[in-house]
Amino acid sequence: MHNSYIDLVANFGIGGAHPGGFSLTQSILEDENIQPRESVLDIGCGTGQTAAFLAQRFKCQVTAVDNHSVMLKKARKRFESSDSSILVIEGDAQSLNLMDNSFDLIIAESVISFTNISKTLNELSRVLKSGGRMILIEMTAEQSLPLEVQNKVCSLYGINEILNEQEWKSKLQQAGFSQIEIIDTPSGLIQTDITDINQSENINMDLYDVWEEHNHFITQNHDYIGFRAFRCQLL
Ligand SMILES: C[S@@+](CC[C@H](N)C(=O)[O-])C[C@H]1O[C@@H](n2cnc3c(N)ncnc32)[C@H](O)[C@@H]1O
Repeated sequence: MHNSYIDLVANFGIGGAHPGGFSLTQSILEDENIQPRESVLDIGCGTGQTAAFLAQRFKCQVTAVDNHSVMLKKARKRFESSDSSILVIEGDAQSLNLMDNSFDLIIAESVISFTNISKTLNELSRVLKSGGRMILIEMTAEQSLPLEVQNKVCSLYGINEILNEQEWKSKLQQAGFSQIEIIDTPSGLIQTDITDINQSENINMDLYDVWEEHNHFITQNHDYIGFRAFRCQLL
């Protein structure tokens, strides 16, 4: 389904388009002890910054999945110019054409909120190996949201619901994940520096308005909307 916020990220070609940005990704992954034999899924890979980093830094077997054609085109272009081989798949996180028990590690950076959350978590639980681990970076409600904030966050980001920390934990548990930890990060949703950009030609002017709205929203609503980085396992 068409989502203006995702179109904005795709057309501007913003890498690290998640709370905390690429520097948070790097610091989390450096603590993961990722081995070359391990298979890693970057679900909702966007333009592929994290997938490329995983392959180059840890020499692991990376699969990058997204359902947006502009994101995938930019990700493929990025991977062509690196010497790592990354499997790129166009697919829907809610229904993956991937075998059960395929991955040692899954990373989802600001992706699951844009989908039917329970459906996607069940699907990720299916493709993760038993004993595998998963890292999520996702938006959270920091307190009960006034209706207008709730409506705005849903319309601006094209999402159906925004969960608080406890609701994320419950949904993760329902999908079979355990040992759910919150990775220690600053939880405020602030605009992170954009250091990785690959703009399309002829960007629709409406997307500049979405960019303005997004920046306005996060500066106005940091008491209500934050994020968490979760780490969990499938036993
Ligand atoms: C905010 S962007 C984050 C991109 C990337 N993870 C990053 O951190 O830069 C959300 C990404 O999730 C992808 N996405 C959203 N819904 C999806 C779905 N149902 N299946 C696969 N990818 C999806 C979008 O196309 C987009 O690339």
